[in-house]
Amino acid sequence: MKIEILTVFPDMFAGVLDASMIARAQGKGIIEVTVTDIREFSEDKHRKTDGYPFGGGAGMVMSVQPIAGALEHIGTEGKRMIYMSPRGRLLNEDIITGLSAEETMVILCGHYEGVDQRALDAYGFEEISIGDYIVTGGELPAMVLIDAVARMLPGTLGNDLAHSEESIYSGLLEYPQYTRPAVYTDAAGVERAAPDTLLSGNHKEIRLWNFRESLLLTKERRPDLLAAYLASGAPDTLDKDEKKVLDEVRSGQ
Ligand SMILES: C[S@@+](CC[C@H](N)C(=O)[O-])C[C@H]1O[C@@H](n2cnc3c(N)ncnc32)[C@H](O)[C@@H]1O
Repeated sequence: MKIEILTVFPDMFAGVLDASMIARAQGKGIIEVTVTDIREFSEDKHRKTDGYPFGGGAGMVMSVQPIAGALEHIGTEGKRMIYMSPRGRLLNEDIITGLSAEETMVILCGHYEGVDQRALDAYGFEEISIGDYIVTGGELPAMVLIDAVARMLPGTLGNDLAHSEESIYSGLLEYPQYTRPAVYTDAAGVERAAPDTLLSGNHKEIRLWNFRESLLLTKERRPDLLAAYLASGAPDTLDKDEKKVLDEVRSGQ
């Protein structure tokens, strides 16, 4: 998948694109990310990329000309055009799954008070939000989106099934995880042992323990998710032991 980022702060991407899973996905050729500096396409003699908003109001607005120049340079034909924006659809699993099937995404990062609407209209941008809050620019939201999409692509994670077992993607929140040591003594001198079941080596018991914990956590923190899970076909695929666990959790046992 090709991901083409348009930004006035290209340096912000360096650390993220060069590290961890995104670097690995690029190294394996699963994603190819390019960062285009909108400023390079400004025809203003001072390379300005913004202007005062028509009609007044606080802050500056990103001008259409440098954005259009950058887009004409990279080309837009057949590409999914995304503008990171708090006005957009809230990013979720369905959107990420849909995007992971795209061949090329162009991601426009806004800054200041946003982008001249004509740039968005002329190039058919859809708007995607990472949440109901405002951050300073579209760069961090773009990185969130790229990370979430990249880990859905085959080959990015060590185990391709890994994401389907994770919180949200599995339909439930993930159970608590533990690693060595089996007993940890905290700063107050309290001994905190990992659950015996997880150390038992009994795979069936471990699977049921994990499932119960997932259900309990989801019931407590995200009853909306649990309701969606129960209304889906997922419970029909459970074996009889899992169904028993589900019944127990639903009835509060
Ligand atoms: C300070 S914000 C501008 C907010 C804009 N004035 C508004 O009220 O909708 C600057 C840029 O950050 C990005 N941004 C801010 N919050 C975002 C969010 N929740 N999701 C996605 N992008 C966001 C957008 O690209 C936006 O153009």
